[in-house]
Amino acid sequence: MAVNHLHLLLLQIIILLVWAIKFKASEASCQTSCGKVQINYPFGIGAGCFFNEWFEITCNISSSTPSGQPFLTKMKLKLAEDTAAMSFGIGVEMPAISLKNPSTGINRTGSPFFFTNKHNSFIATGCKKYAKIDITDESGSTTGGCLTISACDPLKGKKEGCYDFICPVPSNTTFDYGIVSKLNSTISQYCKTAFILDQNWVMTNYVNDPTVLRKTEYQKAAPAILEYGTRQCIQNSPPVCN
Ligand SMILES: *[C@@H]1O[C@H](CO)[C@@H](O)[C@H](O)[C@H]1NC(C)=O
Ligand SMILES: *[C@@H]1O[C@H](CO)[C@@H](O)[C@H](O)[C@H]1NC(C)=O
Ligand SMILES: *[C@@H]1O[C@H](CO)[C@@H](O)[C@H](O)[C@H]1NC(C)=O
Ligand SMILES: *[C@@H]1O[C@H](CO)[C@@H](O)[C@H](O)[C@H]1NC(C)=O
Repeated sequence: MAVNHLHLLLLQIIILLVWAIKFKASEASCQTSCGKVQINYPFGIGAGCFFNEWFEITCNISSSTPSGQPFLTKMKLKLAEDTAAMSFGIGVEMPAISLKNPSTGINRTGSPFFFTNKHNSFIATGCKKYAKIDITDESGSTTGGCLTISACDPLKGKKEGCYDFICPVPSNTTFDYGIVSKLNSTISQYCKTAFILDQNWVMTNYVNDPTVLRKTEYQKAAPAILEYGTRQCIQNSPPVCN
C-alpha cells in the first residue's frame, strides 16, 4: 500500500514537472510584440498564448504593414500604437460615434471588456450650441463635470459647430451599437461625433491642441482603453458597474 502511494506521488510529481516545462516552453515561444505594440498575457498571439478567445491578438502582416498590425481578433478592433502594456486594459482604436449614423459603435456582447472614468473620457465634438451639456446616464442622473471647449473658429466652422464637451464617461453606457439613439436623446447640443478616449491621450494630445479630433486620421477612430478585470459592480442583471 505504502509503496503504491509513493509510486502514485512520484508519478504526480513527474506529471507536474512535465506540465510546468511544457507551459514554460509554450509561453517562451509566444510572440511578444506586433508592429510597435508590446503584447502581454492575458493577450497573446497564437494558440496557447492568450487567456481565452476574447484576448486573442491577430498580427496582420501585409505589404503596407510589414512589421505587423495587431488586432483584437474577436472585437475586430485595431490596437492603438504606442500604448504601453497595462494590467487593466489594452489601447484600441475605438471607432468614432457619428451621431448621424446609427450603426456606429462596437459589439461588446458577452465580452469581459468595458470603459470607465478611471482611464477614459467622453468627448462630444462639433457641437453647435454652447449650452450646458446634460449627458444623462441610463439611470437618469446627469454625469456633471463637463468642460466646454471652443475647438475651432466659430465663424469658419459654423456648419458643423465649434464646441466640444469633455465629460466623465457616463456610467452604464456601453458604446455598443444603438449608442447613437441614446446619445441623441441625451445630448441636446447638436453634436456631430462622440468619442470615448484614453485619458492620457486626451491630456497629451487633445488638451494641447483641441483641433486634433478634427484631423482626418482621428475622424474614424481614436485611442481608448478597453478595460477588463476588476471593477465594482452592483449585482444586477445586467450588472451596474462603476
Ligand atoms: C490585413 O491587412 C490587409 C492589407 O492592409 C487588409 O486588406 C486586411 O483586411 C487586414 N486584415 C484584417 C483582419 O483586418
Ligand atoms: C441624431 O440627431 C441629429 C440632429 O439632432 C440628426 O441629424 C441625426 O440624424 C440623428 N441620428 C439618429 C441616428 O437619429
Ligand atoms: C454581437 O455579438 C453577439 C455575440 O457574438 C452576436 O450574437 C450579436 O448578433 C452581435 N450583434 C450585432 C449587432 O452585431
Ligand atoms: C443599465 O442599462 C441596462 C441596459 O440598457 C438597463 O436595463 C438598466 O436599467 C440600466 N441601469 C441603470 C441603473 O440605469
